[in-house]
Amino acid sequence: MKYHVKDEKLANVGLQRIEWADSRMPVLRIIRSDFEKRRPLTGIKIGCCLHVTTETANLMKTLKSGGADVRLCASNPLSTQDDVAAALVKHFDIPVFAIKEEDLDTYYSHINSVLDMEPNITMDDGADLISTLHSKRKQLLKNVKGGTEETTTGVIRLKSMAEKGILRYPVIAVNDSYTKYLFDNRYGTGQSTIDGILRSTNILLSGKNFLVCGYGWCGRGIATRARGMGANVIVSEVNPVRALEALMDGFRVMSALDAIKIADVVVTATGDINVIDEKHIENAKDGCILANSGHFDVEINKTALNKLSKSHREARKFVEMFELKNGKKVYLLAEGRLVNLSSAEGHPPDVMDMSFANQALAAEYINKNSSKFENKVYKLPDEMDRKIAEIKLEEIGIKIDKLTPEQRKYLSSWQIGT
Ligand code: ADE
Repeated sequence: MKYHVKDEKLANVGLQRIEWADSRMPVLRIIRSDFEKRRPLTGIKIGCCLHVTTETANLMKTLKSGGADVRLCASNPLSTQDDVAAALVKHFDIPVFAIKEEDLDTYYSHINSVLDMEPNITMDDGADLISTLHSKRKQLLKNVKGGTEETTTGVIRLKSMAEKGILRYPVIAVNDSYTKYLFDNRYGTGQSTIDGILRSTNILLSGKNFLVCGYGWCGRGIATRARGMGANVIVSEVNPVRALEALMDGFRVMSALDAIKIADVVVTATGDINVIDEKHIENAKDGCILANSGHFDVEINKTALNKLSKSHREARKFVEMFELKNGKKVYLLAEGRLVNLSSAEGHPPDVMDMSFANQALAAEYINKNSSKFENKVYKLPDEMDRKIAEIKLEEIGIKIDKLTPEQRKYLSSWQIGT
């Protein structure tokens, strides 16, 4: 199969939306026109497993402009935008293997279709491509120079592979660039998670008790935006430093078990398993809405939810109502998968601009430097990170001050005191 998308007739709608996103991605546009001139990825096959969105489409165009041969599959069964998948195939001649709401067998068959190209570079969001390659398609490892990884969860998986000596090529953790996690994880997840909850439920957030589980960069973003919409935000966190930070940022801090008794909405953003477990579900407030914004659908224990329920049915698209045996109802959004990409469109292009600028530069960087690296996880150099921020500011039209020679000298001196 050359590609597998839902409906090629959606291509024109997809193209229009890709162009809209591109108009808000100036840094990626600059990299693309530079790539067109230099063609730094000529002859390189890049296998990509990313959320198939308008923003990702612009990244695919950029890699292709750099001379790469690219193939794309979804990094989550629910996050694909079918019109975008169709547009990439029809208007940009990029093979895409992704259909929104695909089952798990199809999801993995699509990953294998991307691996069939025998990639030289892998580009992941969550490390499913790399882990399939390392477990089921080991014979292809010899072709691979390196990889890139987009998200916190993927970086954690890869670092664990590297520590155990399993990782067979170097990977750039795009997530660990400042111009990625400080913006995408915080402001991107903050806004798109609220967007996903509102699009699927249309509830009023003002006055609601809103529990955020996890106060990493994503949790901070969600908590801050929920507060901005007038919700009473509670944070639960296992890390005492982060819990203190949440408290001093002005949020209520409680255990998840205490908080869920009064929460109208719960969002998990921890990257860990069974954060909302059987005991939490049993104690949930009647009518509680459960959503997840972490990469995998493991944060809300769906097995426990089913076990505690006497029935369930669709209440709205991407809203499943569970009637519990204890008489209460709880609502699960988007099957407990990433609510921002399943029920909404993911992060806005303005922020994905920086994330995907990092991805494009990381592809070039790993292509040039892989032979100097061990089979470990690396960051992009700080100068590249700063450059992305500089270009972004310039494109927004914001000027910032520069250190004077006197200030620069002062900062590197130690003699001048009181
Ligand atoms: N991850 C979160 N939002 C995204 C988007 N809009 N496109 C691709 N990956 C994403």
